[in-house]
Amino acid sequence: MGHKLPDFPWDALAPYGATAKEHPAGIIDLSVGTPVDPTPYFIQQVLKDSANSPSYPVTMGTPGLRSAITEWAKAHLGAAGNFGVLPLIGSKEFVAWLPTFLTSQTVLYPEVAYPTYLVGAMLAKSEATPVGIDASQWPKADLAWVNSPSNPTGRVHSSAEYQAAIDWSRGTGGVVVSDECYLEFGKTVTPTSILAHTGGDNKNILAVHSLSKRSNLAGYRAAFVVGDADLIAQILEVRKHAGMMVPLPVQKAMIAALSDSDHVAEQRRRYNSRKDLLIPALKAAGFSIDFSDAGLYLWATRNEDCWQSVAWLASLGILATPGIFYGDATHIRIAMTATDAQISEAAARITAAAGA
Ligand SMILES: Cc1ncc(COP(=O)(O)O)c(C=O)c1O
Repeated sequence: MGHKLPDFPWDALAPYGATAKEHPAGIIDLSVGTPVDPTPYFIQQVLKDSANSPSYPVTMGTPGLRSAITEWAKAHLGAAGNFGVLPLIGSKEFVAWLPTFLTSQTVLYPEVAYPTYLVGAMLAKSEATPVGIDASQWPKADLAWVNSPSNPTGRVHSSAEYQAAIDWSRGTGGVVVSDECYLEFGKTVTPTSILAHTGGDNKNILAVHSLSKRSNLAGYRAAFVVGDADLIAQILEVRKHAGMMVPLPVQKAMIAALSDSDHVAEQRRRYNSRKDLLIPALKAAGFSIDFSDAGLYLWATRNEDCWQSVAWLASLGILATPGIFYGDATHIRIAMTATDAQISEAAARITAAAGA
């Protein structure tokens, strides 16, 4: 009995964390992409003001939250036509359980990807196949994941690439789920949603969004899905039985978060200026940066085994993630989730070591 899931990858990084911690000036942890900048105060305030919450929250979300998501999806994703919305208790939870909710027998996921797509397929006991970006080459399947901007690469889908995924869905009847949780963190490219490319016909198309990074709400667990109204109704039906309701104070905090874009612009500036500090240092140390057009991460390589790159950075007290966690053995992923001071210090350590 029991699921045979992959080994939890982060355990393999622990020895490098131990090395990095020995650095006399301390560790700078750029591995797990967990937000470190504060939750905007006005959102915290709404959470506090909503602390009295004796009743169960409604699974489908309050009318206020449903309307906030709907209006945001029209304004920021370009969603049009008939579409449904559903709040989620974290997008990781949704990624891990969607194939189960939809009883998908066959699942496609990007060959270099966030590991939970595969885990979700395994939990559903479905057959999982890694695929490239070009959807015209995809085999038939019940469900296919797209992730733009990508974790880990920061690559952004072009309109033509989205169109190919939509054509695949229309040709095969498969569901395309676009994980867009880094959508608002463009750097050299402005990412778009798959929903801007459906021409208002959202059948079998879903877009998943999260406020974890957008609004520094990772600890609240706040996300939502937008798209095919029938599919969302089907998911809601399962969720009404299975729970995973979003707590009411969090639903109220989500409305506040979605009503403001200034804090998102400020966070985007933070991540992009941290990248601007680290890119020249990494280049001086012989790394090249691939993709990284958007999102929280730099995707770097020295054309060596990723563990060698991780070990070199660990010797400087800097912890990065080996690309092998995502299916690529020669890249590393460097997260911008450290303070500006820590990122400056990391850049200084790398530049000094590169010149040594
Ligand atoms: C591509 C991608 N999707 C989903 C998630 C899950 O985010 P959350 O569960 O915080 O919404 C992450 C988190 O790192 C991610 O990188």
